[in-house]
Amino acid sequence: MRSYIIAGNWKMNKTVAESIALAKEIVAKTKGISKTEVVIAPTYLAAAKVADIIKGSNVKLAVQDIHWKDQGAYTGKVSVDMVKEIGAEYVIIGHSEQRQYFHETDETVNLKAKKVLSAGLKPIICVGETLDERKGGKLESVLTAQVDGAYKDISKEDALKTVIAYEPVWAIGTGVVATDEQAQEAQKYVRSLVAKLYGESVAEALRIQYGGSMKPDNAAGLLSQKDIDGGLIGGAALKSDSFFSIIEAAEKS
Ligand code: 13P
Repeated sequence: MRSYIIAGNWKMNKTVAESIALAKEIVAKTKGISKTEVVIAPTYLAAAKVADIIKGSNVKLAVQDIHWKDQGAYTGKVSVDMVKEIGAEYVIIGHSEQRQYFHETDETVNLKAKKVLSAGLKPIICVGETLDERKGGKLESVLTAQVDGAYKDISKEDALKTVIAYEPVWAIGTGVVATDEQAQEAQKYVRSLVAKLYGESVAEALRIQYGGSMKPDNAAGLLSQKDIDGGLIGGAALKSDSFFSIIEAAEKS
């Protein structure tokens, strides 16, 4: 049985003070959560302070990206050792906003995934098609290239430590959520790609989140789908009430 993983991607939102306040609220609200893994991804700037607040709680820390190099002259970047030191367990990589605005490619996603795994942390690997790609009948070919690219030269043992987030680009921040059926169909396909690479048992164990306008009112429907094992949440993760409603939907599912 796969457990649910609900992760809040705060993106470029919340000052350090606001991040501390939100993290405290989430820690308090999630005290009774036992089955669902809860993860929050604040900005780098707030991550160390948030790590202190969530210590010993049911909430785990992610960061929103890393560079694949160990250290050096890479202005503006952060290494995996730096985020490991402050207690991050997860690293989001390949987010569509990184792909769209910051030159992320399937190759850099792969370099980052390998670096994250080599440090003993777990990557949340984001994949998903644009509206034009979906309309053009390219859903499967896009997902295939992204999954094959991300997992190149990654062992079966390491693959088991990863999470995939299926995030249709057209549903991110738009309020247009994929229907339960659209999300299920795409995620089933993603799982079949994992099965091709690593076999059925890895594919059955690997968790696949849905992301893209997931909200308290649509979470239960999405989470009840066979191949949806959680959510990667943007807007609705910025308030503890709505984030917790989604966590509760997972806990009850
Ligand atoms: P929204 O929930 O705001 O659509 O964002 C989804 C997302 O991109 C999470 O990574």
